[in-house]
Amino acid sequence: MKTVKVGVLGLGTVSRGAVEILATNATEISRRCGADIQVTHAVVRDQSKARAYLDEQGYSITLMDDASALVTHADVDIVCEAMGGMEPARTLLLQALSAGKHVVTANKALIALHGNELFQCARDNKVSVLFEPAVAGGIPIIKAVREGLAANRIESLAGIINGTGNFILSEMSSKGREFAEVLAEAQALGYAEADPSFDVDGIDAAHKITILASMAFGIPLQFERTLIEGISSIDKLDVGYAAELGYVIKHLGVARRRDEGIEVRVHPTLIPSDKLIANVNGVLNAVLVQGDAVGSTLYSGAGAGGGATGSAVVADIIDIARAMPGALAVPPLAFEDLEATPVLEASDYRCRYYLRAQVQDRPGVIAEISRILGDAGISIQALLQHPSEDKMVPVVLLTGAVREGDLAQALARIAALDVVSGTPVRLRVEHFD
Ligand code: NAP
Ligand code: HSE
Repeated sequence: MKTVKVGVLGLGTVSRGAVEILATNATEISRRCGADIQVTHAVVRDQSKARAYLDEQGYSITLMDDASALVTHADVDIVCEAMGGMEPARTLLLQALSAGKHVVTANKALIALHGNELFQCARDNKVSVLFEPAVAGGIPIIKAVREGLAANRIESLAGIINGTGNFILSEMSSKGREFAEVLAEAQALGYAEADPSFDVDGIDAAHKITILASMAFGIPLQFERTLIEGISSIDKLDVGYAAELGYVIKHLGVARRRDEGIEVRVHPTLIPSDKLIANVNGVLNAVLVQGDAVGSTLYSGAGAGGGATGSAVVADIIDIARAMPGALAVPPLAFEDLEATPVLEASDYRCRYYLRAQVQDRPGVIAEISRILGDAGISIQALLQHPSEDKMVPVVLLTGAVREGDLAQALARIAALDVVSGTPVRLRVEHFD
């Protein structure tokens, strides 16, 4: 049986998950790919850090202090990158590919920003770059979009694709826990990014939806065009009103094809509470893909953590081992040639909206707001106002689908009314229809 040797960059949550799976399921994995897969070399940042599990479990991994030497080592066939960040990861992977090594990476930030360059380098050197662990943890969504749904023209893709954010929102809404406490737990469990603001501010989800959008529509990676809003703007008040209206609030990544171009966005979203995806909680992720032939398909599973992500790393290593010595036939972004279909300006996106404005409780106020929305061609689909003794009361509205730029102008006019206090809250609504 052939032996396939893996060198790992980083030995943290993800790599440790992969190393342990490769050891625990070694026999099963060899039967699957006809190869004995061994992790032979690793590079870490701090060699003095205790890594007792390596000795206790009898792994014979040579720790190197020179990452360039690892990625070009004659005894390494596949370089597995789970160190994170842009540099030195980018330079090391370009070195690895140029040296004829196949690459597996969990680094979604790197793929979203430098994937086009890495894929070209892989193509030039006739090797593979796989990145299943980069999106939605253990869910094989890359393989599903790239291969399983290859027959389809994909119309849209929407998902809960940040485990930390979903864990925080779920714990806060179901148990009333505080944001900072839940975030600290997500960090301790190995879910969060090295800089957790990537999770909270939607940047991590934006990296992932950028990758999924490219693979769904066959366009180059364009992270800079992705609209990004995080979870910190979500107010408990809106969670309550959303529930009254039959919705839950989730942080969603959405990529949708329209006649004029493509929308790629991440933001807090109201989802009808009877949809399966609305009930995906904790660290779970879920991705809904709409294909013209297959219809609607939903994929769910653990979105972060060593076991789930390690599972995706090992699946990629097995795919490469099966194809070795050559590169895999599947193109990294699912299409042999990428199109120039534009990602639209955010002001041209179309969505339904949830609006909450703090208004004076007196006759004519709702009429004034309705008139402004009516002037902008925006229909009101639901309206909620509770009786109150207070002078200022919240008014909650659900709108029909509207162009983002038109909504912004109407909201500015509403905010300028004497009877309105502060800036109205604006959240997007998705019905997946
Ligand atoms: P982690 O636990 O912090 O591990 C990072 C590892 O990389 C550590 O072993 C660290 O060394 C090493 N490292 C960092 N910078 C280095 C450098 N400049 N030179 C050499 N080694 C370096 O991170 P992680 O959670 O495994 O995440 C790694 C990557 O996977 C990130 O790109 C992340 O976005 C992605 N990812 C993570 C998850 C998850 O659930 N955690 C899921 C999917 C994807 P020390 O051990 O010495 O500090
Ligand atoms: N920090 C990421 C998350 C890790 O919580 O989803 C998995 O990509």
